Amino acid sequence: MIIRVACALARAGRAARAERVLEDRGVVVARAPADEGLLEWLERAPADLVLVEARALAGRRGASLADLRAGPDHPEVVVFVEREDAEARARLLAQGAVAVVYHGVSDAALREALLAFVARRREDLQRRVRARLLERRSGLDDFASDSPAMTEFLAVVRRVVDAETSLLLLGETGVGKEHLARAIHEASARRSGPFMAVNCAALPEALLESELFGHVAGAFTGAVRDRRGYFELADGGTLFLDEVGELPGHLQVKLLRALQERAVVPVGGERALQVDVRLMAATNRDLQAEVRQGRFRSDLFYRLAVVSLLVPPLRERRVDVPRLAQRYVEHYRRRLGKSVQGVRADALDLLVRHDWPGNVRELINVIERAVLLATGDEVTPADLPVEVSGPRAAAPVTSDDGAGLDGPWLRVRDEALRDLERRYFTRLMTTCRGRVGAAARAAGLSPRSLFDALRRTGLRREAFRNP
Ligand SMILES: Nc1ncnc2c1ncn2[C@@H]1O[C@H](COP(=O)(O)OP(=O)(O)OP(=O)(O)O)[C@@H](O)[C@H]1O
Ligand SMILES: [Mg+2]
Repeated sequence: MIIRVACALARAGRAARAERVLEDRGVVVARAPADEGLLEWLERAPADLVLVEARALAGRRGASLADLRAGPDHPEVVVFVEREDAEARARLLAQGAVAVVYHGVSDAALREALLAFVARRREDLQRRVRARLLERRSGLDDFASDSPAMTEFLAVVRRVVDAETSLLLLGETGVGKEHLARAIHEASARRSGPFMAVNCAALPEALLESELFGHVAGAFTGAVRDRRGYFELADGGTLFLDEVGELPGHLQVKLLRALQERAVVPVGGERALQVDVRLMAATNRDLQAEVRQGRFRSDLFYRLAVVSLLVPPLRERRVDVPRLAQRYVEHYRRRLGKSVQGVRADALDLLVRHDWPGNVRELINVIERAVLLATGDEVTPADLPVEVSGPRAAAPVTSDDGAGLDGPWLRVRDEALRDLERRYFTRLMTTCRGRVGAAARAAGLSPRSLFDALRRTGLRREAFRNP
C-alpha cells in the first residue's frame, strides 16, 4: 500500500531533508507549493501523512490541526518545532498531532520516526481494507467438491496460489470467477494486502483510464484533485480486472506496460509510480477469438494468460448443488428471518437436474426466492420457479385471462416481473444495438444497474451487437 506524504516544511533545505530520509519503496512525497494555502492544496493532493511546522499552524492565517485532519484523506499530522518545549508538545499532541518532532534531530532519528508513522498508517489502512474483505468472505474451501471436474480444477488452483503470476479466470457467467479471485487472494501471501475489484465494462470509457492508473489534478476538465488509481490502491495486494475483454485498445497497451514495468503513470502525470500488484483478470468472452479478430492485443493476452483457469459450469459438477443450496438456504434464512431449515428431497432432485445456465448466481437467486416463498421448514417444489420445477401439472390454461395467474401471489408477481424485465431489456438492447452507455441513458439507469439487470435476466450484450 502506497503512503503519500504531503510535505509543507517552509524551508527548501528542510523539505529536501524530509524527502531524503523518507526515500523508501511505497512512500511518495509531494512538496506543498509555496503560492497556495496548505488546506487548499490538500484538497487536491492525496495525503496520508502531513509534515508541517508549528509556526504554520499558529496565527490567524494558519490552518488548525483539526482542519488538516479533516481533509479528504483524514491524514495524520507530524508537527515540526524549532525548540524542544514540553508544554507546546503536550498541547500539539492534545490537538491531534500524531507526533511532534524537533528540527534538530539527526537524519537517522528522523528517518526512524517518520518511517514508523508511515508503517502505522499503512497498518491502519490495511486493517480497514481487511474489515471490508471479511464482510465478503470467500475461501478456497468454498470450491471443495467431490466432482472430478472440480477436484482436478482445485489441484491446479492450489499450485498457482502463491505463484505471483497473472491469472486469467475464465468461465460462464455466474460460475464464481470473482469469488475464486478473492479466495485465491485470501489464500496467498498477499492476504494482508488489499483486494481491489474493477469491472472494466461498467465504467464509462472516458473514466476507465484514470480509475485504473489515477490522474493528477488538472489533467482534464473536472480533475480537481489528484486521484489514486486502482493500481495504486491495490499496491501490496491483488487487482482483479473483471470483463478485461472490454478494455479499449489504448488501455490494453497501457495495461501491458504496467505489467511489464511494474509501474504506472497517472493521466497527466510525468513520474511513474512503482507498484507491487498481482493481477487477476476475468472474462466470459472468448478472448482467443477476440485476439484472432484483432480486437484484443495478442501480447497482452499472452501476458495475462500465463496461467488461465477455467471454472467448470455448475452442470458439470451437479454433486455440488446440494451443498451450495444448503449454504444459501442458511444465508437467506437468517437474512429474511424465516424458519426454513433445508430443501426437501423432491425439490433437491429438481435442483440437481436443472442445467443452471446462470450457474451459481442463478442457484442463489432461486434459493433466495424459495426461502422467501417457503411456508414450512423445508423448500418444496412449489417454491421453485418453472424453469427449475418444469411445467406444472395443475391448472391447465384454457383462456387468455388468468394465464399465469394461479398460485401464491409472490410467485405470480415475481414471474410476471421477471418476464417484464426480460422483455424490456431485450427490446432496449436491440434498439441500442448492444451499446451499454446508450442503453443505460435511454433507460435512465446507471451503467452499473443496467449490468445488474442484464445479469439477472441472463442477457448477453454481445448477442445484440451488429446482428
Ligand atoms: N463456490 C462457491 N461457493 C459459494 N458461493 C459461490 C461460489 N461460487 C460462486 N459463488 C457466488 O455466486 C455468485 C456469482 O459468483 P461470481 O460473481 O464470482 O461469478 P462470475 O463468474 O464472476 O460471474 P460473471 O461472469 O457474471 O461476472 C456470487 O454471489 C458468489 O459469491
Ligand atoms: Mg464477475
